Amino acid sequence: MHKTVQDIINMKKEKKKISVITSYDYTLASLCDKAGIDILLVGDSAGMVMLGYENTISVTMDQMCIFTESVNRARKNSLIVSDLPFMSYQVSIEDAINNSGKLIKAGADAVKLEGGAVMAETINEIVNIGIPVMGHIGLQPQTTVLSQGYKVQGKTKDTAMRLIEDAKELEDAGVFSIALEMVSHEVTQIISETVNVPIIGIGSGVKCDGQVLVVQDLLGMYNKIKPKFAKRYMNLAEDIEKSLADYKKDVESSVFPAKEHWFSMKEEELEKLREEIGS
Ligand code: KIV
Repeated sequence: MHKTVQDIINMKKEKKKISVITSYDYTLASLCDKAGIDILLVGDSAGMVMLGYENTISVTMDQMCIFTESVNRARKNSLIVSDLPFMSYQVSIEDAINNSGKLIKAGADAVKLEGGAVMAETINEIVNIGIPVMGHIGLQPQTTVLSQGYKVQGKTKDTAMRLIEDAKELEDAGVFSIALEMVSHEVTQIISETVNVPIIGIGSGVKCDGQVLVVQDLLGMYNKIKPKFAKRYMNLAEDIEKSLADYKKDVESSVFPAKEHWFSMKEEELEKLREEIGS
């Protein structure tokens, strides 16, 4: 049995840190699951790292369902949380519930949506029908980038107060955890100590209950944006580029394929064939 939402809630109580990584495809999701990552987040960052969009705004429900299905085929142990994409939950509560249901049918165990107090009623309605929700405050890529670009959040007393209030309202609305993106580490600590649900930070410092990174950032595969907070554990892009250049050279010089890569007929069958075609 894979991890449940309750397991994640318990980790905060037991003071165990929660590891979260984004996943969008079968192959990488299998590796993340095998590595024991607690939550596979099918983030709408897929729009950028998988589909090449400038930001997350263009991602559709159909695309999120396909990514979720691929991750679900790979997972054995982790919890799967999938993002509700831009405009799939903001227009009406009915939309929000219908689209949450689609992600659950595609294999998610919970959904994530962006927004603070303004989303409390929507979250409450989704939770009430039995679908667990992860909140997302601080920098909200679906909308913050439209007005401010990528900026650290909660740097003044007033914006920090707003974030703390938002976190409390999300907890009251029934979220099982909250993603906190690019928030000053002082405010992050206050929020983590104020609410009882796990706070999963990205670019928000160490005083969270868990951390999330985009898998392509962690592996050094996506070079278009290099956020300061995204620790690179390897430079996979360099290795991939070198391997592809080696492959091209091998093809051009007939070094590849070698004997171990091809298939042969039995000698007597080959003889018969030669006789038949007279060569
Ligand atoms: O889509 C995503 O990758 C996310 C993380 C940044 C939390 O929402």
